[in-house]
Amino acid sequence: MLKQKKETIINEEAIDLTRRPRRNRKSAAIRALVQETRLHPSSLVAPFFMIEGNNTRQEISSMPGVDRISIDLAVKEAAALYALGIRAIDLFTVVSSEKKDYRGSEALNPNNLLTRTIRAVKKEVPEMCVMVDVALDPFTDHGHDGVVDENGNIINDATLRVLGDMSSLCAGAGADIIAPSDMMDGRVGYIRHQLDNEGFTEVSILSYAAKYASSFYGPFRDALHSAPKFGDKKTYQMNPANSREAMLECSLDEWEGADMLLIKPALPYLDIIAKAREQTELPIAAYHVSGEYAMIMAAAQNGWIDGDRVLMESLISIKRAGATFILTYGAKKAAELIRKEFPY
Ligand code: PBG
Repeated sequence: MLKQKKETIINEEAIDLTRRPRRNRKSAAIRALVQETRLHPSSLVAPFFMIEGNNTRQEISSMPGVDRISIDLAVKEAAALYALGIRAIDLFTVVSSEKKDYRGSEALNPNNLLTRTIRAVKKEVPEMCVMVDVALDPFTDHGHDGVVDENGNIINDATLRVLGDMSSLCAGAGADIIAPSDMMDGRVGYIRHQLDNEGFTEVSILSYAAKYASSFYGPFRDALHSAPKFGDKKTYQMNPANSREAMLECSLDEWEGADMLLIKPALPYLDIIAKAREQTELPIAAYHVSGEYAMIMAAAQNGWIDGDRVLMESLISIKRAGATFILTYGAKKAAELIRKEFPY
């Protein structure tokens, strides 16, 4: 009975339809031919969480697949990523609580973990582009991105001076790109001038232009033990409800001399990425942040989604929205999948 019904349906005469968009999806070959956006390992940036020690690796429970690693392992990992086609890494350091203070002095220690990592990677894998996240939160005992006064206010201009010095320290150690993530006013211009005055005219600035006060940063703060000890970051990071303000931040950073602009987080802010893409000719980066990554991994571990496919779909969506390149904890995984001819 059922079979008979099915046959009558498929044997019916074709309806006269001029437009059949499905023709462009009829085979894998045609789907590949008409694909508008592609992911390549060279448009992915892998963040590294650095710790002291030798051959030392610590798992981060809220970020399965991402470890804190010592310098020797970071050098090996950089070489492995390079072989997979990844061309940039972004460095973060875990600072022990004894070294943290209210103004983040360890950020300016010329021999801190950050500068040692930059030097080691640039020595062993010189072709790899090394980015450095410049902000004070891993270094301050209160966990804020800037210098704090006795009333708990984050002081803009005093912070710029420290960020300027931290940037030249990293440039001197060999960093290719300085990535200020603090959201203080005027820091791009300030850092650009300081770098130029000290002869680092070749060092680029990737500005975290529109960085939102997001709850998606939770696992990252676990990774670095950098959660704010009081208050929140709403007086410097942006209100998630705002979009025009993000365009203002992008214009100011471009005008102050940023070489590239970054939007963060990524997936919940695709509209901001798309708008920024319309507004500027600069490359746009997107940061697919720790919470976005953790959600994929957690659901995948529960068997609720296919983690690899959801990762790739997230990354291609970010690219489609207008990102030129993407910082993601899934960089290595994605590069491996691309090599296996995953259809993105
Ligand atoms: C530091 C910084 C943060 C992230 C990148 N740089 C945390 C924060 O601003 O609180 C978040 C990255 C992530 O969640 O993956 N300023």
